[in-house]
Amino acid sequence: MLDLTVAIAHHLLVFSLFGIVFAEFFVLRPGLGGDGLTRLARLDLIYGIVAGLIILVGFSRAIFAAKGWHYYAHNGFFWAKIGTFALIGLASIPPTLAYLRWRKAGTPPNDEEIKRARFYLHLELALFVPLLGFAAAMARGYGEFG
Ligand code: HEM
Repeated sequence: MLDLTVAIAHHLLVFSLFGIVFAEFFVLRPGLGGDGLTRLARLDLIYGIVAGLIILVGFSRAIFAAKGWHYYAHNGFFWAKIGTFALIGLASIPPTLAYLRWRKAGTPPNDEEIKRARFYLHLELALFVPLLGFAAAMARGYGEFG
């Protein structure tokens, strides 16, 4: 029952994260005004909370549920998945810093700055693709070592 509950929570959270990045991508476009910036800041805060919950629920799954920590610790696809998740986290830093800078400056960002921040959101969305592949492979026992 614990395994099922955390599995459902995990899926809901990862779909939410994807949705939040997509929403940021949608709001962040040339002509962004003060309202858009406020919306972006709110979305980004929720992004941080959801990402934190994914780490909490993900590691709870890996340690306490299903196959046990030993299974994942010796699986290359598990570590590839964690590495890709870390890259998504790193890619989310430049947009977050940009939103903070723009809000502080009180003037709308120019098209070039928006384009740069959109690049990082694009990168985050693209990294979901290998991550989902790694998740499926690890769940099926591919990539075992040791
Ligand atoms: C955005 C990030 C993430 C995405 C998109 C994601 C996606 C998925 C998906 C789709 C599955 C189901 C795989 C399947 O049964 O075919 C899964 C399972 C799992 N994920 Fe994640 N995940 C993410 C982050 C994490 C993190 C940070 C951890 C931390 C350890 C984690 C741990 C697990 C575990 C333990 C399973 C169970 C696999 C099994 O059934 O053996 N995930 N994930």
